[in-house]
Amino acid sequence: MTLALDRTAQDLLFREAHTAHTFSDEPVSDEQIQAVYELVKYAPTAFNQSPLRITLVRSAEARDRLLKHMAQGNRPKTSTAPLTAILSVDLEFHERLPELLPHAPDLKDTFFSEAEVRETSGTFNASLQAGYFIVGVRAAGLAAGPMSGFDRHGVDKEFFGDGTQKSLLVINIGKPGEEAYRPRQPRLTYEDAVTTL
Ligand SMILES: Cc1cc2nc3c(=O)[nH]c(=O)nc-3n(C[C@H](O)[C@H](O)[C@H](O)COP(=O)(O)O)c2cc1C
Repeated sequence: MTLALDRTAQDLLFREAHTAHTFSDEPVSDEQIQAVYELVKYAPTAFNQSPLRITLVRSAEARDRLLKHMAQGNRPKTSTAPLTAILSVDLEFHERLPELLPHAPDLKDTFFSEAEVRETSGTFNASLQAGYFIVGVRAAGLAAGPMSGFDRHGVDKEFFGDGTQKSLLVINIGKPGEEAYRPRQPRLTYEDAVTTL
């Protein structure tokens, strides 16, 4: 009773949610991903900078371009997932700040004028958004298979040639296939992870 979310939703989003390693043939529509985005766009980011960008890899041609940059162990599932998303950080996110933070439009040219500041802040905040995206995929009744096992430089060159976006995570998305889930590994206890001062 401590949690506001009902038990079924808790299980869907957390307790029974696993990283999927195989997927069924059932397609994932653009509408489903849009519904996910319409939820997860509310993730908090510093100064509302919203630096995450999502590239949907749907066509056979785009999939082939991605597969060659995936680690060997990640290739079979990436070649058979109905949809794969490349999550990246837009290093020029500050250009949109006047729209996203209308009461402080000058931040674009002050706080975020240096590329190094944008890369550090953007990478951190886009990674937060990536976590929300995984939860959003689960909220749509789909399984997510996040992977950092890929050649980042290769993916960036292949998909983001001009250097203004950097890949963070590749996520397979779909209904789970046969033996999709590996056994749950232990998690740290509350006492291990939380310190109250
Ligand atoms: C950032 C990130 C990178 C990951 N990279 C890979 C990967 O390259 N290949 C893979 O098979 N699983 C990868 N995983 C999946 C994790 O191993 C998995 O989420 C973790 O073991 C927990 O499993 P569970 O969700 O089934 O409890 C990754 C997960 C995250 C969040």
